Amino acid sequence: MPALAILAPATPLNTVSTSPPPRRAAVATLGIVGGGQLAKMTAQAAMQLGCEVVVLERASDFPAQALDTRWIQGDWDDPAKLLELAAEVDVVSLENEFVSPVALRAVESAGHLLRPSAATMALVQDKLVQKRTFAAAGLPLPRFEAVETTEDVARVAERLGWPLVLKRRTLGYDGKGNATVRSPGDVEAAWRKLAGGPGRVYAEEFCPFVIELAAIVVRGLDGATREYPVVETENRDHVCRVVRAPARTEARVATEAARIARAAVESIQGVGAFGVEMFLMPDGRCLVNEIAPRVHNTGHYTIEACATSQFENHVRAVLGLPLGAATLRAPAACMVNLLGVGPGSGSPIGLERALRVEGASIHVYGKSTSQRGRKMGHVTVLGATLQEAEARALAAADAIRFGEPEDKDR
Ligand SMILES: Nc1ncnc2c1ncn2[C@@H]1O[C@H](COP(=O)(O)OP(=O)(O)OP(=O)(O)O)[C@@H](O)[C@H]1O
Ligand SMILES: [Mg+2]
Repeated sequence: MPALAILAPATPLNTVSTSPPPRRAAVATLGIVGGGQLAKMTAQAAMQLGCEVVVLERASDFPAQALDTRWIQGDWDDPAKLLELAAEVDVVSLENEFVSPVALRAVESAGHLLRPSAATMALVQDKLVQKRTFAAAGLPLPRFEAVETTEDVARVAERLGWPLVLKRRTLGYDGKGNATVRSPGDVEAAWRKLAGGPGRVYAEEFCPFVIELAAIVVRGLDGATREYPVVETENRDHVCRVVRAPARTEARVATEAARIARAAVESIQGVGAFGVEMFLMPDGRCLVNEIAPRVHNTGHYTIEACATSQFENHVRAVLGLPLGAATLRAPAACMVNLLGVGPGSGSPIGLERALRVEGASIHVYGKSTSQRGRKMGHVTVLGATLQEAEARALAAADAIRFGEPEDKDR
């Protein structure tokens, strides 16, 4: 039995489970589907609370392995593997949103606890369904429409105007599932890039945003929420590069963005941490871009900068524990992602120089190899002002390199 009464499942546990290995006196055992850096940082927070962690990961070499957690090797789309994980833990949680809906439902049907739930994931995984759910909840969004054929795109453009952003409904990340089409001549190439076809793509109006905002919201089993400060995110080549906390916006905008982020999580009955991405428009409106049903890159700064990190609050939420304060510990904080410059080792060049930057908290994820644009680590710096925090975070980030530039002559 789990030490926490709240974890006792409503329905009897499945019969698939073989007897689990003997446990130490863990508070609870958390299962994480995926073993990347998000799983690693979540596992660190769980361990601090006295929990054990079991990871399901298909690779044999992954960041969370550094913590020596128990590990099941296998594919997260394989219901049998998910059930094997579920049988060993009290609660199953997810590092990414790409797990097959069939596998997620299988976990719940067998009586295991999945948080966020399969129902929540089903509202998020398909971005068109996600947008429709938010629209039904009255949230402000870019205008969007389903497109089944390239002819549809031209028709939708008459209503939404050019440019249009075409987005894959599922499996997009780091902008890989998006294409901006500026005129009818761009449509064919974009359609091919996204492997467009019936049920696969939708179109969205292009938003000439002033800045991009994000907020982490953590929602507990009882529906209580904690909203972290609204932050500014700067993306380069569709990958987040810098996060500034708090966002330099009018208080009214930040309050409204936080309200929208909370409403987005409530509309999908989310439990756990969620990253809500928004566009701040020139007229001051905040539009929801998308939600990530998990801890999020734009919340990494919370490890050092907030009273309770997004990772710890995620663990608390999925285990049914009281949530912690999401307030800043300093006037400002800046996080800079460390992206690979090219292929090579996952161990950094220039770490010592970076560590000389006063106040820089450097996180190296421990990936075995670097690739151009791959997230290899991040740096967070707190400061009396955002300017000071950002200058130091950039100085530390600039001192570190992962891999060799692909074009050495540049
Ligand atoms: N409608 C839009 N108008 C203008 N820019 C957009 C629009 N949609 C997306 N973008 C830009 O592309 C980026 C990536 O888009 P989106 O968040 O939809 O994709 P993603 O693949 O899920 O990305 P990630 O995994 O980085 O969050 C956004 O952060 C924004 O900079
Ligand atoms: Mg995004």
